Amino acid sequence: MFEIAPSILSADFARLADEIKAAEEGGASMLHIDVMDGHFVPNITIGLPVVRSLRKTTDMKLDCHLMITEPGRFAEEFVKAGADVISVHIEADPHLNRTLTSIRSAGALAGIAINPATPLSMLEEALPYADLVLVMSVNPGFGGQAFIPESTAKVRRLRRMIDDSGLPVRIEIDGGIDGENIMSVVEAGAEIIVAGSAVFGRGDAAAAVRGLYEKGTVWV
Ligand code: DX5
Ligand code: ZN
Repeated sequence: MFEIAPSILSADFARLADEIKAAEEGGASMLHIDVMDGHFVPNITIGLPVVRSLRKTTDMKLDCHLMITEPGRFAEEFVKAGADVISVHIEADPHLNRTLTSIRSAGALAGIAINPATPLSMLEEALPYADLVLVMSVNPGFGGQAFIPESTAKVRRLRRMIDDSGLPVRIEIDGGIDGENIMSVVEAGAEIIVAGSAVFGRGDAAAAVRGLYEKGTVWV
């Protein structure tokens, strides 16, 4: 079982409510929100006011991906704004366990996001504090980049690491996912699949989500 989390980064922001409705019609149960600070990543996107508005617009789970330095300063604010899941980058936070704990005690699920060049061994001590790990399959900062092929093997190794630990940690994958590669990442063990440009900007977001669900279904 996997779920598609459309990333609004590729949506038309002037028609955001309609775009989201279409994604939901296609079967999406989670919305991925990319928060960038122009410091941790070379781009600036959206912040708390947008999350607050989205909370009023949809019942979908709001999955906030914080690409900001020292995310601990803002994590609780995002929970208050309506986030259901908050992922923070392991590379951006010197006090990761504290931040993850504060997200959980504020009432959301806590995720660790990990860049393509960061080894999985960095996660070892933090895993018990996390509900999910977000594996970046592009270098964060922009939508529409090409999937880094080594990411599939990384997901597979992480799956094994989590299964061996016995912890109930889910795997999310983010970046360059499309109809061609979705099946291999699901097969490798990813359970939440972020898709931006493959969902929005192609005309019919509902049909795009439905198509990804079909293409990602692994028949056994
Ligand atoms: C990249 C973001 C992604 C991005 C994915 O930094 O974290 O969530 O929106 O977009 P696609 O699916 O187009 O790679
Ligand atoms: Zn993201």
